[in-house]
Amino acid sequence: MKLILLGAPGAGKGTQAELLQKALQAPVISTGNLLRAAIAEGSKLGLAAKEYMDGGRLVPDELIISLVQEKLAAPECAHGAIFDGFPRTVAQAEALDGIGGADAALSIEVSDAEIEERMCGRRTCPNCQTTYHIMHNPPRREGVCDKCGAALGIRKDDEPGVVKERLRIYHEQTEPLIEYYRAQGKLREVPGQGTVTETTALIFKALGICS
Ligand code: AP5
Repeated sequence: MKLILLGAPGAGKGTQAELLQKALQAPVISTGNLLRAAIAEGSKLGLAAKEYMDGGRLVPDELIISLVQEKLAAPECAHGAIFDGFPRTVAQAEALDGIGGADAALSIEVSDAEIEERMCGRRTCPNCQTTYHIMHNPPRREGVCDKCGAALGIRKDDEPGVVKERLRIYHEQTEPLIEYYRAQGKLREVPGQGTVTETTALIFKALGICS
């Protein structure tokens, strides 16, 4: 199955993708994580992407599309994948349609006010990219990643001013994809205001997954 996770920055796509990965036994393609890894490596892609990401703007379509094409060609994606943060523009969605498309697009809906609160409390592992929230999803040991033991940090694009810009861009460029996938009959909409567990249950129900 190829599944797209749609939703505003901070709606919980990454958190839910990790849980869905276990249930569906499918790899996650997170364009945000791939770009952050490219920046950490200092690769050509990372250098090109950094300025856009730090400012909360979208990385150009052509860079993202070739990154996803490369990932999708890997043997572990032969039976499907979960897309977290891709597509984000109609041009990206059309490019994905050109290479087989997706089976379903799941939109996690959260208000802008809740998004801003979540971003303020997010902590991210710079090593394995696992995300936490200081109140709603804390690590077992404060400031330390449960999975790899690295010290947690705050993403540069989680600063309040950058979050506002990311939300503006989401409404302008990514939200139209909800209608794009509705028109294809592939859209599933799920409220994401509840707890992580409540949202997971709604997602599993919408996708017909037994928990
Ligand atoms: P990316 O990393 O994809 O960021 P994003 O879409 O803005 O999403 P986030 O990772 O910020 O949030 P999320 O929805 O995954 O929420 P999370 O689960 O972490 O992209 C970053 C940048 O890369 C972009 O701005 C752009 O520059 C570039 N980029 C990436 N893809 C691109 C593309 N396709 N095209 C162009 N540019 C691209 O949850 C957020 C917080 O809330 C966490 O602290 C979590 O613990 C907490 N939380 C989660 N669920 C709940 C809940 N139910 N209740 C309470 N708290 C919760």
